Amino acid sequence: MMKLAVSGKGGVGKTTFAALLIRTLNDQGKHVLAIDADPDANLAAALGISDSDKITPIAEMKELIYERTEAKPGSIGGFFKLNPIVDDLPDSLSAKLDNIKLMRLGSVKKGGSGCLCPESTLLRALVTHIVLMRDEVVIMDMEAGIEHLGRATASAVDKLIVVTEPGRRSIDTAGHIKKLAAEIGLKNIAVVGNKIRSQKDEDFLKKHLSDFEFLGFLPYDNALIEADLNGISPYDVDSPSKAIVKDMIFKL
Ligand SMILES: Nc1ncnc2c1ncn2[C@@H]1O[C@H](COP(=O)(O)OP(=O)(O)OP(=O)(O)O)[C@@H](O)[C@H]1O
Ligand SMILES: [Mg+2]
Repeated sequence: MMKLAVSGKGGVGKTTFAALLIRTLNDQGKHVLAIDADPDANLAAALGISDSDKITPIAEMKELIYERTEAKPGSIGGFFKLNPIVDDLPDSLSAKLDNIKLMRLGSVKKGGSGCLCPESTLLRALVTHIVLMRDEVVIMDMEAGIEHLGRATASAVDKLIVVTEPGRRSIDTAGHIKKLAAEIGLKNIAVVGNKIRSQKDEDFLKKHLSDFEFLGFLPYDNALIEADLNGISPYDVDSPSKAIVKDMIFKL
């Protein structure tokens, strides 16, 4: 089953796009494991999961982290397991909506030279397990980087989708993400152009990202902004993006 990661500059529409993708797949009868890997985002809300603000991120589940890694609470630099058991977590710790299971990863505070701590070890083990072993569709809503992915998982990710909007910084970020992806051996990257107002916008992205594959373009749409303001899933409002996303899935 397809494993997709969604990345891009802050605010370009990663979560909106991921939510549309996940809900469409769900409507097509697919089982989807949705991973919210962006600490600032709320994929659950965008999916229309109720009480989404009450979902505790895995990184904050101290008891679980200590239990699985056998780390001693409060001890710094102590010994802990580098291969904690995580196989049961996607089923037991996910929020559910229809055939969608959602997990919030949360964030790990980094110590200077990249942290090797129980929290990050558990998250890494979990993401590796999900990407390599789960047999449903997996969609990961990431931040402007691809931090949670590593060499072990890169080859199992079918596509890294970089959401972009017509703007310089969004393009710069796309280039940066491509570099990060290449470093871990992830070569299958595609771009989605979002918030497109005119042919000019589309041409701008095509021109500046000419070395990327384009999955498609989504129009700038007030209905999506309204949905966000009203706490409604972008999938539950009338929007031309829904048909376009369906078409993208067909292409994938
Ligand atoms: N096609 C679109 N047209 C108009 N507004 C859009 C479109 N797509 C997303 N938006 C709006 O842009 C804002 C940011 O969207 P979203 O939260 O999906 O971005 P993000 O990349 O996930 O942001 P973050 O980096 O904060 O996680 C929201 O208000 C959303 O409604
Ligand atoms: Mg987001």
